[in-house]
Amino acid sequence: MDNSKIKRYTVTAALPYTNGPVHIGHLAGVYLPADTYVRYLRSNKRDVKFICGSDENGVPITLKAKREGVTPQVIVDRYHKIIGDSFRDFGVSFDIYHRTSSLMHHKTASEFFENLYEKGVFTEEVTEQYYDEKAQTFLADRYITGTCPKCGNEHAYGDQCESCGSTLNATDLINPKSTLSGEKPVRKETKNWFLPLDKYEDQLRTYIESHKEWKPNVSGQCQSWLNAGLQPRAMTRDLDWGVKVPVKDAEGKVLYVWFDAPIGYISATKELFEYARLDVWNPKAEEYYINKNTLTKGKWEDYWKDDETKLVHFIGKDNIVFHCVIFPAMLMAHGGYNLADNVPANEFLNLEGEKISTSKNWAVWLNEYLEEFKDKQDVLRYVLTATAPETKDNDFTWKDFQARNNNELVAILGNFINRVTVLTHKYFAGKVPMCMEITPVDQAVIDELAAYPARISASIENYRFREALMEVMNVARLGNKYLAETEPWKVIKTDEDRVRTILNISLQIAANIEILIEPFLPFTADKLMKMLNYGGHQWENAGQINLLHRGHQLNEPHLLFEKIEDEEVQAQIDKLNKSKSDNLLSTAVEVAPAKEDIQFEQFGAIDIRVATIIAAEKVEKTKKLLKLTVDTGIDQRTVVSGIAEFFKPEDIVGQQVSLVVNLAPREIKGILSQGMILMSENSEGKLTFVAPVANHGNGSVIR
Ligand code: MF3
Ligand code: ZN
Repeated sequence: MDNSKIKRYTVTAALPYTNGPVHIGHLAGVYLPADTYVRYLRSNKRDVKFICGSDENGVPITLKAKREGVTPQVIVDRYHKIIGDSFRDFGVSFDIYHRTSSLMHHKTASEFFENLYEKGVFTEEVTEQYYDEKAQTFLADRYITGTCPKCGNEHAYGDQCESCGSTLNATDLINPKSTLSGEKPVRKETKNWFLPLDKYEDQLRTYIESHKEWKPNVSGQCQSWLNAGLQPRAMTRDLDWGVKVPVKDAEGKVLYVWFDAPIGYISATKELFEYARLDVWNPKAEEYYINKNTLTKGKWEDYWKDDETKLVHFIGKDNIVFHCVIFPAMLMAHGGYNLADNVPANEFLNLEGEKISTSKNWAVWLNEYLEEFKDKQDVLRYVLTATAPETKDNDFTWKDFQARNNNELVAILGNFINRVTVLTHKYFAGKVPMCMEITPVDQAVIDELAAYPARISASIENYRFREALMEVMNVARLGNKYLAETEPWKVIKTDEDRVRTILNISLQIAANIEILIEPFLPFTADKLMKMLNYGGHQWENAGQINLLHRGHQLNEPHLLFEKIEDEEVQAQIDKLNKSKSDNLLSTAVEVAPAKEDIQFEQFGAIDIRVATIIAAEKVEKTKKLLKLTVDTGIDQRTVVSGIAEFFKPEDIVGQQVSLVVNLAPREIKGILSQGMILMSENSEGKLTFVAPVANHGNGSVIR
């Protein structure tokens, strides 16, 4: 969208599921970039509403409730508060943090469904869905796991495979299993309403292709979706928790959570303007974390239906299809709504080299961080933005957290501000000295400073927050370099006027930093604002050197950042290691029971030999398969093996293996596989070779 045409912005951040607190992966992927973007817009005096809320429907919540033996309401109340409080305390500046269990949401989502229903958009289909006879309930989405038909991942969910990113229907899964009872479910007929996504394929293609500026990871996923061909998708579910399906003959059915959740952005906006309309402050607004400071009167429709409004969805990569295909199709079917102008989705953040996992407690939880690192919100904000997984998955480590704090925030930014303010107090009683004669060294710094704001703006507006933050830090580096070159602490002995100029310019740089850093580190900006007795976060002033006038009184200096000691990060690493050992203990119990007895003859029929891998290559268009050439001592032959996720072809040439040599040959992906390599698989699904410990010649018998 052409910048000059934009009247206002609606910025949304994915509604988190209220089945647990939020962790650093959510923050780095979604909430920090969104907050930075919004703060930047506000600093530019743009009209923006920043919308979020709790996603309180859906299977993740009912599953958690079942596990704890409480009602879903107990779960959502608990986590809505934990998440809402921690966002607020972390400085995520939503205008509203709403809830999808609210009346406003139920009403809005129902009406939306009715609207499509009355237009005849949905197809009504009786299909067979999985049913758990033991638990006596239909199994939708995450109530089912099984093998992904597209990539072979054995832990895919009924709605999505997290390994290859495909969106699935539960009935697509191979070997489905109920997550409630662990049983194999049966199929049972039921009627549901389907959104014929296929009918919107052309419109969606035009929409997506008109946005060449989207991030490549987003466009790429959309393209592969469209190319695979869209299928009708059920928008209702046989469940008892959620928004009731508002039509006849729909008892026991609720809206599909991915139908209602994105409508949550709309209901939150409506709620926000409803509160703004009332002149009396309603205490219920606290429950929705409505920001009093940014409240404006107006019409919610302006933020959703006016084509001069720019709509931006911040999400994680597992949400791409829902925001770029399904929600737009819903909006198209309804008509009258804007479609997103951009959907800047990030990749995933790992933790200490491993995938963040809620169930394994392998995470840094925001609420715990806020308790354990009091007043250090900006350290985490800084580190997560500096390492954000913008273009590829990235890794958070506590050592890096410490290093970035000590070597960057303390040593570069904190140090610069501290030197300037302390020196000004020392030499000039904390009053901004006058700028006297400007030398070429000064002019060079002034010119360099002037170029930063536009550059940082461009990075932010293109959703490159890491780059933008690095540039802001470069302004502090510029200040440090300037002080090191001009050495006011030496010059003061001979030329006080020269020091006036140096400190004046340095203080202007500090005031610039206050403006430029605010979208990223708002707590630091506030501290700086107090120290400089200047501020207000106004981007239009950045780049100038007349922000602090001669004689302006500064307040007492304080350190912006403190060093983080080894013990503090070690305690965090220990805590993670504890989760890991707890997990090992609990998974140890999950060893599969022994299979039924077999006779010796049956075992003897299997011919297992020592063999050596002599060549290996990936099987094209598969994730898991390697084509191996093995020397069995008897012959050289081809074996296709599902180990590509664990081993690189080049690493396993020369590896000895145990091979079943008399397994009937089988064609896999067009390749004739002659035999099977024995692997040991642990409870996490990791594979390792089973091979003789000493080097036995190829063809040696294993029995
Ligand atoms: N709750 C979903 C998740 O955590 C995100 C919902 S985003 C919404 O993956 F737009 F649909 F609300
Ligand atoms: Zn898959």
